[in-house]
Amino acid sequence: MTSPHTELRTGRLVLAPLEVDDAEEMVAVLGDARIYEYTGGDPPSLDDVESRYRFPVAGSPRPGEVWHNWIIRLAGVSVGYVQATVVGATADVAWVVGVPWQRRGIASEAAGAMCDWLTAGGVTRLTAHIHPDHTASGRVASSVGLTPTGEIDEDGEVVWASM
Ligand SMILES: CC(C)(COP(=O)(O)OP(=O)(O)OC[C@H]1O[C@@H](n2cnc3c(N)ncnc32)[C@H](O)[C@@H]1OP(=O)(O)O)[C@@H](O)C(=O)NCCC(=O)NCCS
Repeated sequence: MTSPHTELRTGRLVLAPLEVDDAEEMVAVLGDARIYEYTGGDPPSLDDVESRYRFPVAGSPRPGEVWHNWIIRLAGVSVGYVQATVVGATADVAWVVGVPWQRRGIASEAAGAMCDWLTAGGVTRLTAHIHPDHTASGRVASSVGLTPTGEIDEDGEVVWASM
């Protein structure tokens, strides 16, 4: 099983395991309402982010479930995050990149590193839940080999999967 605290690197990016102290930089990244267009939600306060980050840092309370959360850093600056919830050999994955850094291939590069690492660690099925109109997120999912399954989840999102 994959360890939840592994730093990953790509050509441009460092994916650093999430820590509560990351909240201070991430509150700016998460502060643009456009990020929530397809996922719902509002820009959080620093307190919100700090308390939200205590859960993943502590780890999932559910037996057999592992949470992985990485801050994406570009030239040392926090620009977004990727995350995976692993149960057995299945990982449900997600990605967020702050508005000033979007459309530069960062989500695809970070998701690729995460998914390669998960697969190398024994994950055989990747899934993602994506709003049907969310072209950018669908492109990221395609870039890591996911395709839409046709299944719609309880939030009206399309389930994408690797097989
Ligand atoms: C989805 C998201 C992570 C993409 O991040 P990104 O770093 O801009 O993505 P990339 O630069 O790797 O682009 C991936 C692809 O999407 C395309 N794309 C990016 N933004 C786009 C947009 N606004 N409209 C249409 N296509 C877009 C890119 O051209 C690229 O296409 P390609 O693979 O054919 O070249 C980012 O838009 C985001 O964080 N959105 C808000 C949070 C969110 O909804 N997360 C997804 C939850 S499922």
